[in-house]
Amino acid sequence: MTVPADVEVVAEPPGDVPVTGRLAGTDLRVLGGEPVPAEAARLRDFSGKVGETLTREAAGRLEIVTGAGDLTAAGETELRRVAATFARALAGSPAAVLDLRGSTVLGVPAGRLAQVVVEGVSGAAYRFDRYRSDAGKMTLERLVVVVDADDLEAAREGARRGLAVAGAVEFARHLVNTGPGDLTPRLLAERAAERAAATGVSIEVWDEERIVAERLGGLLGVARGSAEPPRLVTMTYEPGPGEGALPTVVLVGKGITFDSGGLSLKPPDSMIGMKADMSGAAAVLAAVSACPALGIRARVVAIAPVTENMPGGRAIKPGDVLRPRNGKTIEVLNTDAEGRLVLSDGLVLATERDPDAIVDLATLTGACVVALGSKVAGLMGNDSRVVGALEAAAARSGEALWRLPLPREYRKDIDSDIADMKNMGKARQAGALVAGLLLEEFVDERPWAHLDIAGPADSEEESYELRKGGTGFGVRTLLEFLEAFEIDGEPGQRRADHVGVG
Ligand code: BES
Ligand code: MN
Ligand code: ZN
Repeated sequence: MTVPADVEVVAEPPGDVPVTGRLAGTDLRVLGGEPVPAEAARLRDFSGKVGETLTREAAGRLEIVTGAGDLTAAGETELRRVAATFARALAGSPAAVLDLRGSTVLGVPAGRLAQVVVEGVSGAAYRFDRYRSDAGKMTLERLVVVVDADDLEAAREGARRGLAVAGAVEFARHLVNTGPGDLTPRLLAERAAERAAATGVSIEVWDEERIVAERLGGLLGVARGSAEPPRLVTMTYEPGPGEGALPTVVLVGKGITFDSGGLSLKPPDSMIGMKADMSGAAAVLAAVSACPALGIRARVVAIAPVTENMPGGRAIKPGDVLRPRNGKTIEVLNTDAEGRLVLSDGLVLATERDPDAIVDLATLTGACVVALGSKVAGLMGNDSRVVGALEAAAARSGEALWRLPLPREYRKDIDSDIADMKNMGKARQAGALVAGLLLEEFVDERPWAHLDIAGPADSEEESYELRKGGTGFGVRTLLEFLEAFEIDGEPGQRRADHVGVG
């Protein structure tokens, strides 16, 4: 169930909801209305900035004035945050009104405004209480958005889209937050099948026998040390009839349901949080599941190789050589660099769909977290058009990512003495880039981009629409990307992210 379960968009505030939210700018004027009383603002230290609220009570009703900064300059990312701030101030109220009348001054069209508001409220109201014995606390069930009468239609459609996006993000967050014993590869595949059935996309799950038959040597290698069998999950969205040629976009997500490191065992502190190592898989499956509701005009396939990475008696050992589906060989020198091993098979499967673009998401390297911190994803790729389209999509979704190079000079860092490549480069040098270069070996020169989401996949802090734990990072950017992706137009400049000669 998405929170809030129900969003109404109306032109007149309802009389039966005792909590109303309104926006105010740093000019201390309420959107579409009167000034905030100076005395109240002074006493409560309210200056109208994003992140601030001023709660006023009168006649048994609550008004939450939420700061929106410079109203005329507020963009979608700010407004999503404003909505999230409002939702946090609700503190458990089951119903609330958000009055957005007068929104024309904002410079964000009514439809998009309603969408980002629903996304922000939903993100902040998100709860994961599967393991709490005091669950059942009140949560926001009903949100009533009030807009100018002229905006009703656009805002209703925007709210509907916002709920679709929010539902996908919530699905991904639930998966990430679930304990690894409750989200084994088999169980992840079951959750994906339920989601597919509920949203109208198709799904195919390969079991171990099929994975062997399909020669997914990278995935099988990583799975060897685990008592739990692996799965390969493929979710497909096929658009309904319409005009124009349809592009095919294949999304690939790393699905390590727990990363112990394998025989190259992680130290205890580094193992904490490794239930989130399936965040890439969660994001790509979630994104495809929202495509029917958003009416995406592309064929979209999500491929998730799913396994634990464990140090069991049959585990791969440093020195073993794996052979992913395209026949290239990888010498495994560190079993903790397992993401690239399972992604190799996922990417090869992606190339077999004749894709116009491949995008993979993976909590791939600690090095990317060192480089960009815990809020920014690393973006690499072989095609400036796909990479640029992802940058543009992220600018709209408000998810932070930053472009990194794939320096050809570093390819030799993964030269192996006995195989086509090895699965790690030089210690403490360009770990995120070297991982990206290994992935590139499996995309068959198709237009491809890679998002290393090791940092932002989960959050250590509460901030706007994020709560501690899984963030669903990437879902919104992928959906923005898919909405804008077109088959024609200028072909991308290939290898644009490669620097240097050779
Ligand atoms: N899942 C980890 C990467 C990771 C680290 C994700 C921190 C989130 C937070 C990945 O499988 C891994 O262990 N990578 C190694 C690669 C190294 C052994 C070449 C790393 O980054 O240390
Ligand atoms: Mn690892
Ligand atoms: Zn991992």
